[in-house]
Amino acid sequence: MGRYAGKKAVVTGGTTGMGLATVKALLEGGAEVLLTGLNEKNLEAARRELGPRAHVVRSDTASLADIDALGRAVQEKLGEVDFVFINAGFARFGTLEQVTEAVYDQTFGINTKGAFFTAQRLAPLVRKGGAFVFTTSVADLMGSPGLSVYSGAKAAVRSFAQVFAAELLPRGIRVNVVSPGFIKTPTMGVSGASPEDLAAFEQEGNTVTPMKRIGTVEEVARAALFLAFEATFTTGVELPVDGGLTQVHLPNH
Ligand SMILES: NC(=O)c1ccc[n+]([C@@H]2O[C@H](COP(=O)([O-])OP(=O)(O)OC[C@H]3O[C@@H](n4cnc5c(N)ncnc54)[C@H](OP(=O)(O)O)[C@@H]3O)[C@@H](O)[C@H]2O)c1
Repeated sequence: MGRYAGKKAVVTGGTTGMGLATVKALLEGGAEVLLTGLNEKNLEAARRELGPRAHVVRSDTASLADIDALGRAVQEKLGEVDFVFINAGFARFGTLEQVTEAVYDQTFGINTKGAFFTAQRLAPLVRKGGAFVFTTSVADLMGSPGLSVYSGAKAAVRSFAQVFAAELLPRGIRVNVVSPGFIKTPTMGVSGASPEDLAAFEQEGNTVTPMKRIGTVEEVARAALFLAFEATFTTGVELPVDGGLTQVHLPNH
């Protein structure tokens, strides 16, 4: 019997990267999972690759109409759920001078407004004793050039999660956050990154991370699932999964 047998979960942004790794770990453990994404190619690949306990739904997390439809799909396919992973995200580099209103709105629309209203729509479907986990980023604690809008968008999500943890406590629902550092995903978290950009991020991550390597999607999935199912005395925290990047200072670094 798998460790997640009989469990039901929703993963937004579950078609690639750390979302997909979390979906796979849940399925391997015996859970039933509804996952979302937007890109048709990624949705199709997930439909082909994942088995009958996976429900793949196209849903733009920046759209309130899509979030409402997602709520109906979750109700119809799963009913009550044990775990909601609000993981869909978007980043684009731009300095203070470069950021346009469109990029600002898109960044907050996907990361912040999407996270908020997905939680609002799905909270009534989470059973007593269930859990939410959100994905933020180490960027919300660091002053990284070119990431002001993304950092602010994720910092808001961290604050939402703390308040939701308080508001959902009476229903026995825990709310926590994973905060990844440099993680090897198809985008490394940055939309539109070229192969050269990806190689440069990877090299930077291998250099600046105290563990001297970037992380894997499985490492983030394990942390998210720990917060969801094992951390029964933990709510309102943001757990860094970053090889020490935000917590450890090495002299001569
Ligand atoms: N990789 C890193 O180093 C890193 C570091 C810190 C934080 N993060 C955060 O970690 C999370 C996952 O990132 P990742 O690198 O694993 O994957 P990613 O390639 O950046 O994609 C994120 C996921 O979000 C989905 N998504 C994007 N826009 C969406 C929208 N409007 N509606 C619905 N889904 C949407 C994508 O689906 P489609 O492909 O189908 O559009 C994909 O499944 C994000 O929140 C990201 O900000 C990543």
